[in-house]
Parts: sequence; structure tokens; C-alpha cells
Amino acid sequence: MNKLEMTSRAQAVLRLNDAGEFTKPSALQYPHQWNWDSALIAFGLAHFDLPRAYTEIRSLLRAQWRDGMVPHIIYSAGSTDYFPPPEFWQTANLPHGSPLPTSGLTQPPILATVIRMMGNVARLGSPATQPTYHEFLREVFPHLLTWHRWLHSARDADGTGLPCLLHPWESGMDNSPLWANALDRITPRDLPPFKRYDAIHVAPDERPLAPDYERFVYLTDRARQLHWDARALLEQMPFLVQDVLFCSILHRADEDLAALAVELGEATHEIESWLQRTRKVFNERFWVDERGLYLDYDLRARAPIPVNANATFAPLYAGLASPAHATRLVKEHFDNPAEYAPGVNSKFRLPSVAKNEPGYSARRYWCGPVWIQMNWIIAQGLRRYWFATEADSLIHDALALMEQSGFREYYDPRDGSGCGSQDFSWSAALALDMIATRSEDSSGD
Ligand code: GLC
Repeated sequence: MNKLEMTSRAQAVLRLNDAGEFTKPSALQYPHQWNWDSALIAFGLAHFDLPRAYTEIRSLLRAQWRDGMVPHIIYSAGSTDYFPPPEFWQTANLPHGSPLPTSGLTQPPILATVIRMMGNVARLGSPATQPTYHEFLREVFPHLLTWHRWLHSARDADGTGLPCLLHPWESGMDNSPLWANALDRITPRDLPPFKRYDAIHVAPDERPLAPDYERFVYLTDRARQLHWDARALLEQMPFLVQDVLFCSILHRADEDLAALAVELGEATHEIESWLQRTRKVFNERFWVDERGLYLDYDLRARAPIPVNANATFAPLYAGLASPAHATRLVKEHFDNPAEYAPGVNSKFRLPSVAKNEPGYSARRYWCGPVWIQMNWIIAQGLRRYWFATEADSLIHDALALMEQSGFREYYDPRDGSGCGSQDFSWSAALALDMIATRSEDSSGD
């Protein structure tokens, strides 16, 4: 498939899933608006329809909670075959909640980064788009600032300012083996009745197992019993984790937010204080020297989570790894065929979990398959540390997977066959960016 053909197919997927003011991640499996999906989708849209990209983001921020949280799902009227339904969360009428029906959780805060990147796209476009971008920035900046402030305070359980996750769904890596031990410690009691829909449109062996799903529901039930009160949640939720990917995305987004503040002539000292604090504590909290890996931290168990998932490369994207750590990550893990490199049982980069992890499973949701947005994020990180060849390999493989199997939700790293939803929006959105960026760098094949 040539570049033009792939571009037009990717745009067609975004049009297909366009619900007017937001884009569904996929038409059947995810019929509402998701937080980090919308941010990445907006970035794809910005490559060919900047006004529609602004609409996507405005629609996400309209659902911001009064306390600052930007929720992980915003429900649209009409689609009823999705679990959990809006009323399941019991978030309506909370004094600190949203004016719209939303979930009670948040998701990786990649939005400020995307908005900064959109500025570059706007500047490359017609001069007429530039004043509009500045106005848009002025409008969204206060929302970003209050969201980041909420993450660094309402989710700060230990005074480090590293936000905690209360539920695997907040990580964006919903079914990762990262959460297995923490979930195993939980015994779901008095589960409310529920009916899954997620294994109707997608093969059950590509979706979470029943005991894990019960724990997802149980955690949601616990949080709603606590009325989504920030302090009570930190004190009482049985699942409380600091995640390397989430904290890296936030740190990078803080850097971008500071740059946006400068562009608007706004004060930066508060954002600078978050940046400094994270730089001070990040490596101490997450780097495990014996293994040469960044590992998540389980605050309830007071111990690192000993699972090698590809989130371990995310600190490169945030500029938080020392050059020595970055080199170890690449040489000992990224390039290791027993873990992430093609060779032993895989052809494509980058498996979401190291292939030699006990929880690895090549087709199951977040347990091994390749995800396009992870390749895109980690490629940026590798470039930041001058690992250009490795970064190119991630973009090359992402494009090869999409060319071979279409814009799927995730891919089997062994043969590149597609898994999960079809016509998946953020895969298409990021394909647009990968094609545009690659053609700037290369001879334009
Ligand atoms: C899945 C993914 C999550 C994503 C959502 C919608 O739950 O794990 O990251 O936001 O689907 O695409």
C-alpha cells in the first residue's frame, strides 16, 4: 500500500467513527468517548482537519469534573450495549463531579503533549490557522492546569506528587499482568450484578479472564461506595499503584504545559515545582538496578511490582532516565530477543510484555500484543536519547502491522495478525502522524 492509500484509509476510519463532536475508539466495542483515545485521535485529526481536532478536545474538556479530574469515559446518549453503563458509576450529582455522565476514573494525561504538538501542525498549515491555535490554547490551558494540579495533589498518597492509580482502567493498560498480584490479593465480595459486552464483538481469548473482570467490577463498586471522595479513595481503595507509564506521560505533559504557559505569557512556577519534584523522586521510586528496569510500585504491598512490561521504556519519553539507565534498557531489554526484540517467538516490535514473563500471552489484551500508541510513545523516547535506529524500527513495525492487518486495536507479535477491535481510531490517527513524519525524514518511499 502506498502512502496516499494508507493516508486515505486512515482518514476514512476516523470519519467512520466520528460521532459529531467526538470520535468513538471503535464503532462496536467502544461506543463512547475515551480520554487518552480522544487526545491521540485529535492529533491525527489535526493532520487534515484542525477545526475538528479542536472540537474533539473541547468535547473532552466539557466533561471535566469540578475538582479538576478529566474522566476516562464520557457517555453519549444512544449506545446502551456497553458495560459499565453510566449509572453504574454513581457519579451523577456529586458536588465535585462532572456536568455530564462520566466514569469516576481518569486516564493517562497525554492531552497537553498532544496540544503542544498540534501547535507545530498549525504553524506548518496556512497562516490563518495560527491565531485560531493561540485562541484555542488560551481556552484550554486553564483546564489542563487544573487537571494536572488535581493529579499531583488529589492523587498524591505519599507526598511525592507521583499520582496513584485506583483501578487498572486508569493506567490505559487495563489488563496488563502488571496488576495480577495486586488483584490476586483482592477477594471480590457482594459483587453487584453485571453483564459483560466486551467479549461479544471481540474473541473471548483476546479479552480479560473472568476473575480479573470481577475484580475490575469490585473495585468500581468500592469506589462508588466511597462516593468518589479523593481522600477516602486514597485511604481505603485496596488497589493503589504508582505506574511508570502514567507518571512518565504526566511528566512529559508537565514539560509541555510549561512550554504552553510560556507561549501564553502565564506563570510557570507551579508547573516547574511539579517538574522538579518528579525529577527528584522518580528514579528512586521506580528504577530497580538489579534488573536494569523501571518497575511499577504497589503502595498497598509497599513493594515494586516485579513485572517487565514495555511501560519500562516510557521514562525515555519523559526525559527522566539517566543516559546509563537508557543504555541498559536498550541493550539488556529492548534488543534482547528473549524479551522484546524479534527472534524468539516474535517478528514484530514491541510486545506489550516481555516474552519471557510468566503472564505473557501473545493475543490477550495487554498481556503481549503490540499496541500502536505504545510504539509511537516509545519511539519518541528512544529518539530523545539518540537511539534513532531503534526508534525507526518501532515506527517501521507499526506501519507494517497496519498495512498487513488494517487499523486494529492490537496485534499478535508472532505473525502480525490483528486482535481486538477493527477500524480502531487511535491506530489510524497515529498512522497519519507516522506517515507524515516519516516522509519528512526519509526519501519518501
Ligand atoms: C481499552 C484500553 C484503553 C483504551 C480503551 C478505549 O480499555 O485498554 O487504554 O482507552 O480501550 O480504546
